[in-house]
Amino acid sequence: MHVAVLAGGHSAEREISLNSGKNVVVALKEAGYTSVELIDTAADDFMVTMATGGFDVAFIAMHGAGGEDGAMQGAMETLGIPYTASGVLASACGADKEVSKLLYAKAGIPIAPGLALEVGDEVDIDHIVEVCGERCFVKPAVNGSSYGISLVHEPSELPAAIAKAFAYGDKVLVEKCIEGTEITVGVYGEDDVRALPIVEIRKPEDCEFYDLDVKYVDPTDIHRIPAQISPENYARAQELACAAHKALGCLGISRSDFIVSEDGPVILETNTIPGMTDTSLYPDEIRHTDDMTFPQVCDSLIRMGLR
Ligand code: DAL
Ligand code: MG
Repeated sequence: MHVAVLAGGHSAEREISLNSGKNVVVALKEAGYTSVELIDTAADDFMVTMATGGFDVAFIAMHGAGGEDGAMQGAMETLGIPYTASGVLASACGADKEVSKLLYAKAGIPIAPGLALEVGDEVDIDHIVEVCGERCFVKPAVNGSSYGISLVHEPSELPAAIAKAFAYGDKVLVEKCIEGTEITVGVYGEDDVRALPIVEIRKPEDCEFYDLDVKYVDPTDIHRIPAQISPENYARAQELACAAHKALGCLGISRSDFIVSEDGPVILETNTIPGMTDTSLYPDEIRHTDDMTFPQVCDSLIRMGLR
């Protein structure tokens, strides 16, 4: 079995993806795969390499635009190469936070009030404040790892925050800041999906939210597993993460982020290809199960892809 592990690409999360890819290569070798090649999809001859390389399957270890949003999945479909995790539509829906929210709402999953802005839209600050409140998050609609995200404290900060988010894409989401405990819930499975142990994200005191700098520091300081939330919220968040996985039509894996508010968990987003670096959340959750290892999960994603 000749496996291509696809990583890198051109998104803001390129470096993270390269680290995810390296970990996947190690995991697949541990799982017994002997012919595994790490391929940077930003290489000029990438499509030629894939078309002529004799690969049996592609493990897509990519994050953000061009890798996690359906584009790479579509390329593999066109080349006739089976690939891991979600298909084109689920990937595209998961990558666009506005579209995801429509699907979450349809499935009865609580979402934060918010609105989307497209390039060229008139920015009506009063309307934004009416919908999202004064304290809100502004983020690119398609991106991960907190690139381009701002916490806005008062309306005067909105124009700069919106401009910053537009630097990462053509659509921006503004969302009410939900106060509470941030958690993330991995989901694994095929027909029967199951939620993994929940990680609570403990922000350092000098940090307002779980931003990019915090995400890739020592996880022992940041991740608390299992999350210290009430048993009701714990069970509810696991149920909602599985519901989000199904609402988007994900295959194999996903990881949804939530804020546990006074009224229960509110979903923020679903990562259809969660980070798989040494400090990433999904592998940490796998480590805290007693019946699964990361190499087993990677192996099973390949087997699902080959079906
Ligand atoms: N988007 C990053 C890779 C994550 O959520 O893990
Ligand atoms: Mg995320």
